[in-house]
Amino acid sequence: MRLFSGASSAIGRENMSETQNGSLISPELNTAFNEHVSAELAASHLYLNVAAYFGGRALKLLSKMFFKQAEEEHAHALKFIRYIADTGGKVSVPAVEAQPAVFESVEHVFQLALEWEWDVTRRINKLMIQAVDEKDFAAQDFLKWFVTEQVEEVKTMDDMLKVAQASGERNIMMVEAYLVHQD
Ligand SMILES: [Fe+2]
Ligand SMILES: [Fe+2]
Repeated sequence: MRLFSGASSAIGRENMSETQNGSLISPELNTAFNEHVSAELAASHLYLNVAAYFGGRALKLLSKMFFKQAEEEHAHALKFIRYIADTGGKVSVPAVEAQPAVFESVEHVFQLALEWEWDVTRRINKLMIQAVDEKDFAAQDFLKWFVTEQVEEVKTMDDMLKVAQASGERNIMMVEAYLVHQD
């Protein structure tokens, strides 16, 4: 019995992505992934506030866009939760910080959204660095999807900020017109 467990831990050491506690995710990455769930949910909550703000201003396509974005961010949080569970980690959803619900203008909204997307991008990059350091190939593969996704997310918010700046608050219906052509 002792011989067998000794042999199995030797095999375990060769497989760098298998951690000492027998799960496929290290306790450190497990903690970082749980923390990241909070960032994705915070983005989802911010976008729900934004969707309601646009709805209140009768900017229907902008409202629709942000309800959809909020759902996507929620789905991102679920992806992390499922990954932690699938790799034998411990899921612990942290508190989510309250997000702004008052906005000065459409431009202000897109500035906030762009900052958020940059922030999430930096967080994803940090997780990737951690996964590379730990030689956790499964986590790297998982995170790669988010690296690609963030390129799209930052570009979308950056484009929308430019459109909002070009139209100005008085011609904000131009932003709605822009969205008609996006479908
Ligand atoms: Fe996200
Ligand atoms: Fe996002």
